[in-house]
Amino acid sequence: MTLTDRRLTPVSTTRRDAIDACDDAIELFHGFYGNPIEALERAIALEPDAVLPRVARAGILLTTSEKAHESAAAAEIDAIGARGNERERGHVAACRAWLERDWRRAVRLWGDVLLDYPRDSLALQLAHIGDFYLGQSQMLRDRVARVLPYWRESTPGFNFVLGMHAFGLEECGDYARAEQAGRHALELNARDPWAVHAVAHVMEMQGRLPEGIQWLESRAADWAPDNGFSYHNWWHLALYHLDLGEHAKVLELYDARIRPSGSKVILEMIDATAMLWRLHLRGVDVGNRWGELADAWEPLAADAHYAFNDAHAMMAFVAAGREAAAHTVLAGLRASADHGVGTHAAMAREVGLPVGVALAAFGRGDWDVVIEMLRPVRLVAHRFGGSHAQRDILSLTLIEAALRGGRAKLARALAAERTQVKPSNPFNWRLTARAQSLLGEQTGAKHAQAWSRTLVTAAESRIGGSATLSA
Ligand SMILES: [Fe+2]
Repeated sequence: MTLTDRRLTPVSTTRRDAIDACDDAIELFHGFYGNPIEALERAIALEPDAVLPRVARAGILLTTSEKAHESAAAAEIDAIGARGNERERGHVAACRAWLERDWRRAVRLWGDVLLDYPRDSLALQLAHIGDFYLGQSQMLRDRVARVLPYWRESTPGFNFVLGMHAFGLEECGDYARAEQAGRHALELNARDPWAVHAVAHVMEMQGRLPEGIQWLESRAADWAPDNGFSYHNWWHLALYHLDLGEHAKVLELYDARIRPSGSKVILEMIDATAMLWRLHLRGVDVGNRWGELADAWEPLAADAHYAFNDAHAMMAFVAAGREAAAHTVLAGLRASADHGVGTHAAMAREVGLPVGVALAAFGRGDWDVVIEMLRPVRLVAHRFGGSHAQRDILSLTLIEAALRGGRAKLARALAAERTQVKPSNPFNWRLTARAQSLLGEQTGAKHAQAWSRTLVTAAESRIGGSATLSA
């Protein structure tokens, strides 16, 4: 008799306790709680021939984006051999494609599993993470939409599906429906950090800064304890404070929450780096934090595994003055762009290398090169993954280069882009003020600076007003 998991999807596992252990592990993975890998190992110990826990372990390890985990994942896939039912063999094929550096095909193969088994929430989440790395915003939304007709509120894990849909809707700019889906997910299960995160993104994209702070702080008891994703929600909280100009609070969150223990987990290092780089662009003294972070990136400098990671390694090396390591990253990106295979080669060519060159130029103060590289690449930067909020770091770097390089008209234009999208964000008005001031200096228009100060004051009083409203 074919057994099924909690979502009535067939498994080849024969022991009920092993199936339950695997289901428990997958639920931990959906919520990023505890240690899903250890939980899967318990399932494997109960039934060493079971395929699903092994292929789940491989998929989770691969989608960390860490080269260091590939050998363990490959060993699991080898251990499975030709075993498994149709669903499980679909997972194996996806993992093999990932190991062959073809992330696009891997994600498509997990998508194929979902055509036959739309309640395979493991395949859904692995594909969702893959869509994120590939910058496939539309599929972040629509891959989840495809399976929704097969789910009911009573299906175990439905809230996680809604949370994924919420994030996809947000990345596609459908903010109202994203917030609705995220809040619905949280009504079903308050302990859904991805749904919390989706709504946090909505508030970030709409410039609802005090409301975003309240959103994350009021729910922290649900999403933070024992959670492997909490560093990122803390990062979002710091992002709101950053744009309010509360730099001391940002550094407090950095030390206590974003980078409390010198983690070597790349996704955590990325957020730490991205926050320090934003502070770096603002001219904030971050003490010796760059040195510690650059030390953590050093062993990965030659990885050339995923351009998004490489770009963040570059930021750390440039800011810390590690020229040799920065050169190693650039050489890896160049080699991938010229001779690489698979998804990473295209990412390196189209996005990673120009971004790396721009960051190196930023370190030298060669503003014209930064501008020349970033103006075109920021328009296609989704191809190396990340969220809109994360990739905004490229636009922030570009406008800073324009300001420092005396390119007043460009800076003014870029500032106008930002204020039109998020008029309630005071940092955008500060950039506007700097651009306007520069333009005034260059054109002799003395009224420009005074006018800019008025704009900043007006924006900050609006923020104060919304803080009162949301309190
Ligand atoms: Fe995020």
